[in-house]
Amino acid sequence: MPAPDAEPSRERLQKVLARAGLGSRRACEELIADERVTVNGVVARLGDRVEPEHDDVAVDGLAVGVRPDLVHYVLNKPVGVVTTADDPQGRPTVLALVPAEPRVHPVGRLDRDTEGLLLLTNDGTLTHRLTHPSFGVDKEYLAEVRGTPSRGALRRLREGVELDDGPTAPARVSSLGDHLLRLTIHEGRNRQVRRMCEAVGHPVVRLVRTRIGPLTDRSLKPGEWRPLTGEEVHALRLAAAPDEADPSSGPGGRARR
Ligand code: URA
Repeated sequence: MPAPDAEPSRERLQKVLARAGLGSRRACEELIADERVTVNGVVARLGDRVEPEHDDVAVDGLAVGVRPDLVHYVLNKPVGVVTTADDPQGRPTVLALVPAEPRVHPVGRLDRDTEGLLLLTNDGTLTHRLTHPSFGVDKEYLAEVRGTPSRGALRRLREGVELDDGPTAPARVSSLGDHLLRLTIHEGRNRQVRRMCEAVGHPVVRLVRTRIGPLTDRSLKPGEWRPLTGEEVHALRLAAAPDEADPSSGPGGRARR
């Protein structure tokens, strides 16, 4: 039987963790030494090797994306492109802007007329977490609106406005100029920002998503995309982590560093 070191698909755990954005190899060795890392539910030891394709690796109880087949892209979606896999009307879709293989899906959606950051991935677990309202990952938008919102209108936007599918949750809203608002929301309801602004009498003229949780990018031009770094993927996982990964729950818990 070959020694574990001779198996080609097994890699040193600290190398795999570093690639996934957990820090330098040295820092990842410390995570292992501190018993914060588990492999398939068992506390890892320094010197352990893993098969990234098959093993479940977690740090502080939070799954770490080490599977090499997972891809994560951020696209600066231009106006006029729809966020669906197939458009019956034959309009251009976001999928035509990123590599065809491996097949990815958009995480949530932006309206055809909304621009800005959109994630596309084949990582189903991360998608579920980022799109599930209970995990509350916030998204920031710049909205150019008609007219100049009064302080009362801003307050209504902040406190929640009544829409036909129910009131909106409190939002962070600031005025950046006479016709320019920055809004941060964590719900993902259909055309939510447009409907919120419309409800307070200031229809949106232009809408750009500028942040998804910890993820920003001011260098991508409309239509451009790039792969996320391991650090960015990990930061998104942390942002979308459920509260059950509690730092007080011992080595299986998640301590925010
Ligand atoms: N809110 C909107 O109104 N449209 C989007 O595309 C995203 C958020």
